[in-house]
Amino acid sequence: MVADGREILSSVVASQIDIHQKYGGVVPELASREHLRQIVPVVREALAQAGMKLTDVDAIGVTQGPGLVGALLVGITYGKTLAQALGKPLVPVNHLEGHVHAVFLEAHKAGRTAKLPAVCLIVSGGHTVLYEVTPADPHVQDAGARLLYRKIGQTRDDAAGEAYDKVAKLLGLGYPGGPILDRLAAVSNGAPATVKFGPTKMKGNLLDFSFSGLKTAVLYHVREHPEYAAELPLCSPKTLALVREFQNAVVRDLVERTMRAAEDLSVESVLVSGGVAANSQLRATFEERSKSSGIEVFFPSRALSTDNAAMIAAAAYSRFRNGILADVTLNADPSLTLA
Ligand code: KG4
Ligand code: ZN
Repeated sequence: MVADGREILSSVVASQIDIHQKYGGVVPELASREHLRQIVPVVREALAQAGMKLTDVDAIGVTQGPGLVGALLVGITYGKTLAQALGKPLVPVNHLEGHVHAVFLEAHKAGRTAKLPAVCLIVSGGHTVLYEVTPADPHVQDAGARLLYRKIGQTRDDAAGEAYDKVAKLLGLGYPGGPILDRLAAVSNGAPATVKFGPTKMKGNLLDFSFSGLKTAVLYHVREHPEYAAELPLCSPKTLALVREFQNAVVRDLVERTMRAAEDLSVESVLVSGGVAANSQLRATFEERSKSSGIEVFFPSRALSTDNAAMIAAAAYSRFRNGILADVTLNADPSLTLA
């Protein structure tokens, strides 16, 4: 629950990692079933933590897409029911816009302001996309401002988080791969590099990303060196070095393209959000580039980087203030785009 679009009153997340872990990735049917089981207790807990009743809320925000249709439908059906029963407005939210607002929530907590226009990198298990974010009215930059999004780059194949998850899986290291590889790369100092991955060269839009080639390069390297498999479940210096080089390549591409966009467009700030924004090396590298370029970089906390409902409530506030509402005909849109 969020007040005035920027202050978090409660943020409750029902993680499904334990459920999907043994399958090595998200199983859509299990995801919908868990959403169904969790939605009522999670809403109750969010109200309890905020010390509020359902009748106290001004509006109900719900994710319309993009995402898995079964999970989206659970939220939409419940959101519609609440809105109808309480006589409150229902606000449709784009999941990606939620990730942008996670950055604003955190900045507000820290007493900072992320000035617009900005370049925003959303980097998660399902998305790797760059937006230019501008206020519809340059003089209004508060929580209720209407924001305009222009997509300026995106992955042509895998999302960065997906590459993390696939590489961790092929090394037999578990799911989700991002946090595991992040920790392993951090302790890889001194492990001699066995392979180096060069920057991905893109034809056409230089702000686009590609991670499947890198993932395949890791796969071939491991296939050519069967000793990697023999090392499991322990990680030798060789595996640590491979993980480090993989992460170096991902982080370099994400940071270089984002900072290039920010410089080309002369924006005020850079926003980085989504599950992979929790990555330690990505954060540290952006911080360094922020110092050298003079462009301020903003991240959500790690908890707000990965999927959460507070960011959806924050995005809903801006839409609510701008009269963007839904009615009972609202439907899930699994491939909803933002701009
Ligand atoms: O935003 P998110 O919670 O869900 C999606 O909308 O996809 O992102 C989950 C993704 C997973 O692929 C996970 O491996 C990755 O974010 N991730 C990380 C880290 N923490 C989560 N990737 C790299 N480093 C991390 N520390
Ligand atoms: Zn997400």
